[in-house]
Amino acid sequence: MFASALLFTSISACSHYEALQKDPKESSKGDDESHNEGQNCGSCHNINGHEAVREAGWWTVSGTVFREGDDKGDDNAIVELWEKPGRAGKLIKKLETDKEGNFYTNQILNFMGGCYPVIYTPGGQVKVMPIPYTGGSCNSCHGVSTSKLELK
Ligand code: HEC
Ligand code: HEC
Repeated sequence: MFASALLFTSISACSHYEALQKDPKESSKGDDESHNEGQNCGSCHNINGHEAVREAGWWTVSGTVFREGDDKGDDNAIVELWEKPGRAGKLIKKLETDKEGNFYTNQILNFMGGCYPVIYTPGGQVKVMPIPYTGGSCNSCHGVSTSKLELK
């Protein structure tokens, strides 16, 4: 009993990492499970977050795309992370925003030292980040040190 408790302690960081990959949680069109639009999701949803947050999820990428009007749930935005500027190279990740305009994933991603975010709508509006993104919550900069992410 004692020995297994010790063993559990020593491997818990690693099994947490594996658990994330086995229980994928990601935003998708029409979902309404998220909250706190515009806030820095990563300030709570991080690996050191308290119990309730760890149950909910630790987001490797998260943020908010604001839209005009109240409910854009059926006309969501899409977020892509590309290896190279101009939607070139490998598509590292594609996420749909939910009804709140939020996007998130708990999947471990390889940003390849810096990738290029793009946001767009099915209607054809596109905005690209001209400088590389290396990780963290998009809202830690957008809406704080630079403009919030917005599409019509
Ligand atoms: C102030 C801390 C805090 C911030 C900021 C925050 N969250 Fe949360 N989030 C929580 C807590 C605590 C829970 C679990 C309890 C609950 O559902 O309210 C949660 C739950 C969730 C859930 C539900 C997961 C599930 O499986 O039930 C989603 C999705 C979510 N948050 C997404 C986000 C996104 C996206 C952002 C940023 C736009 C964000 N959160 C910002 C604290 C936060
Ligand atoms: C470290 C801060 C930082 C983080 C984190 C960050 N960005 Fe940015 N982003 C910027 C800055 C600064 C600009 C403006 C660059 C310029 O035009 O000079 C920008 C610009 C953009 C633009 C273009 C906006 C426009 O109006 O044309 C998009 C789209 C974008 N970012 C998406 C994202 C997404 C999606 C994420 C998360 C995956 C993200 N960014 C994370 C700093 C950040």
